[in-house]
Amino acid sequence: MIKGSPSSVAGKALIDVLTDGSNKRRPLWFMRQAGRYLEEYRKLRQTAGSFLDLCYNPELAAEVTLQPLRRFDLDAAILFSDILVIPQAMGCELGFVQNEGPKLSTVSSLAQVEALNTENTVEFLAPVMETVKLVKPELDDHVAFIGFCGAPWTVATYMIQGGTSQDRFLAKKAAFDGEPWFDLLIDKLVISSIDYLVAQVEAGVEVLQIFDSWASDLPDLQREKYCYGPITRIIEGIRARGVNVPVIGFAKGLGAGQLDFCEKTPVQAIGLESSLPIDWIAKELVPKTVVQGNLDPVLLDAGGNGLRDGVRHIVSKLPKDRHIFNLGHGVRQTTNVDHIYQMIEAVREFDD
Ligand code: CP3
Repeated sequence: MIKGSPSSVAGKALIDVLTDGSNKRRPLWFMRQAGRYLEEYRKLRQTAGSFLDLCYNPELAAEVTLQPLRRFDLDAAILFSDILVIPQAMGCELGFVQNEGPKLSTVSSLAQVEALNTENTVEFLAPVMETVKLVKPELDDHVAFIGFCGAPWTVATYMIQGGTSQDRFLAKKAAFDGEPWFDLLIDKLVISSIDYLVAQVEAGVEVLQIFDSWASDLPDLQREKYCYGPITRIIEGIRARGVNVPVIGFAKGLGAGQLDFCEKTPVQAIGLESSLPIDWIAKELVPKTVVQGNLDPVLLDAGGNGLRDGVRHIVSKLPKDRHIFNLGHGVRQTTNVDHIYQMIEAVREFDD
């Protein structure tokens, strides 16, 4: 069976740009569009208790997914969850400490990696699929529904470091030392990610994004093995299971390496960091792939003329049948909601 056939969702700008460029308007959504910059999120999060309680409560997670759509005219909803639920499904301890971020039990040996369970992913994450089923009927016809997972490299960095770290030194060293347990960890993350993404599509998501937020940690010669390779295996894995929804790859910080990324992986689009020059994107990447991004989240935070000029610069140089408007990374917690309205208005104004 073909799951998530694009023909069933024609007329959604995000899906049209990703499939045949027939979109009538430039699709627009933004990473972390649900979250702490919204007061209604902060309120609901307090009711739920912890961030993870929110992620695993389908009614509340569905509400949080829909919150930005209630305020803004967006072309996509992104499922509210986190990339770190996969390690948790595999048996790692996971918690989120206020103002400190994620804390995980660490892995640093073959025995620990062998003990990780890849058999239980979909069962453990059943509440996430419930969230998808609750959100789907609430979406307007033009809104596409995005599911996601973290890329194996990025998720592995959190599992090895035990949380967010400045330079991912332990993870990089394990990879570059050629530790056999490191390759096994990547293989297990590939397996769980395939199961998880297939289940999300079966539940109703229509586009997938794979977040490789720390891809820039990998030197040129290691990128094939730990960035392009695992992402390719995930996409081939879901295709072999009959999933044909478009996939956006977000390998943050690759710079000129984005050219390799779009050529060496079967992604339908690539998400771009803010530091990439727009003229270079237009000349080198747009002829090869659909691009997503890349407004600096701090320009959005700052607002005013800088924001307007930044939007105009992007929109005037990237054709709307090859571009998804987004940020270069997630929206910052301190962002004033008024600036989001200004950004959206500016995209529509300059798009005409
Ligand atoms: O709106 C959306 O984008 C969907 C939900 C989403 C979240 N995290 C919610 C979240 C998505 C797609 C993610 C992805 C994610 N999670 C990434 C990849 C993208 C990126 O930001 O680079 C990463 C690396 C994580 C891991 C993670 N989750 C960290 C490091 C943190 C702590 C830092 C922070 O921003 O607080 C989180 C927590 C998190 N994930 C929050 C949200 C809304 C904040 C939790 C809270 O309410 O306290």
